[in-house]
Amino acid sequence: MSENKVIIVTGASSGIGEATARLFAAEGYRVVLAARRMNRLQAIAEDIRRSGGQALAVPTDVSQYESVERMVQEAIVRWGRIDILFNNAGFGRVGWLESLDPVKDVRQPLAVNLLGTIYCSQAVLPQMIEQRRGHIINMASILGLLGTPTYTVYTASKFGVRGFSQALRREVSIWGIKVSAIYPGGVSETEFAAKSGSQRRKTAISTPRWLRLTAQQVAQAVYRVAQRPKSIVVLPWMLRYTVWLNNMMPSVVDKLIENRFVRREREMSKVVEN
Ligand SMILES: NC(=O)c1ccc[n+]([C@@H]2O[C@H](COP(=O)([O-])OP(=O)(O)OC[C@H]3O[C@@H](n4cnc5c(N)ncnc54)[C@H](OP(=O)(O)O)[C@@H]3O)[C@@H](O)[C@H]2O)c1
Repeated sequence: MSENKVIIVTGASSGIGEATARLFAAEGYRVVLAARRMNRLQAIAEDIRRSGGQALAVPTDVSQYESVERMVQEAIVRWGRIDILFNNAGFGRVGWLESLDPVKDVRQPLAVNLLGTIYCSQAVLPQMIEQRRGHIINMASILGLLGTPTYTVYTASKFGVRGFSQALRREVSIWGIKVSAIYPGGVSETEFAAKSGSQRRKTAISTPRWLRLTAQQVAQAVYRVAQRPKSIVVLPWMLRYTVWLNNMMPSVVDKLIENRFVRREREMSKVVEN
């Protein structure tokens, strides 16, 4: 049972964050919903309350430390404890590096995905250290394990989340605090693709439908790891083979991606542009 534990979910206004917030609320957790779109957060919080759950909506921009600090303080004032932080807020912008906008496509994703994860973790730590327990669950991506062309900046942000998670796990274990990182492949029915500009892609190469996850499946994996903490969760598990291949034979994977994706994509872009 959740014993009325408190979870903060960042990026709770849509997709995986929303699904996770709803699932934990249904399981008896008190849920802090954090994101920028307050109207969405309020609607989700009201829905949760109507179903008998407890939710607090706090407008938050995770890329701004003051905003994060305010949100965490509001959670502590309301419920007096923080058991889980799910660092989920994030987005990616797709495109060749030379064509990405230095602010919108580079600085912003790094600020939300990486700085946001670091800021939220910093802000909850004093409370978790005082409690001598807590669990920080970081949303990475399979691209936090596999460098992927057209997702260079997003890949960098998620590799950053991976490194941060490993280092922090080793730093805070003495306080009874756990740190996990989740590495999902493609997830359907979230707003991620619409915000990524991926319609610019010319080839039809993407995650096959049978490998795609739903936001609910990812939420269930987050719930499982909250019950039985693990350092790393790769979803779906078959992607572990791709990661293994990438680690064991990086130059084979380099060639494969160059020939099957990059050359074709660049060629098709030229055809379309001419
Ligand atoms: N979809 C996939 O294929 C996939 C695969 C692997 C990992 N992921 C990761 O899963 C996480 C959730 O993505 P999703 O697919 O559920 O996409 P989504 O539906 O677009 O959700 C992204 C969430 O992040 C929030 N967000 C963005 N900027 C923010 C900011 N500055 N401050 C606070 N919140 C912010 C958004 O809320 P507001 O706009 O209201 O702020 C939204 O709630 C991301 O970290 C993503 O990298 C996604």
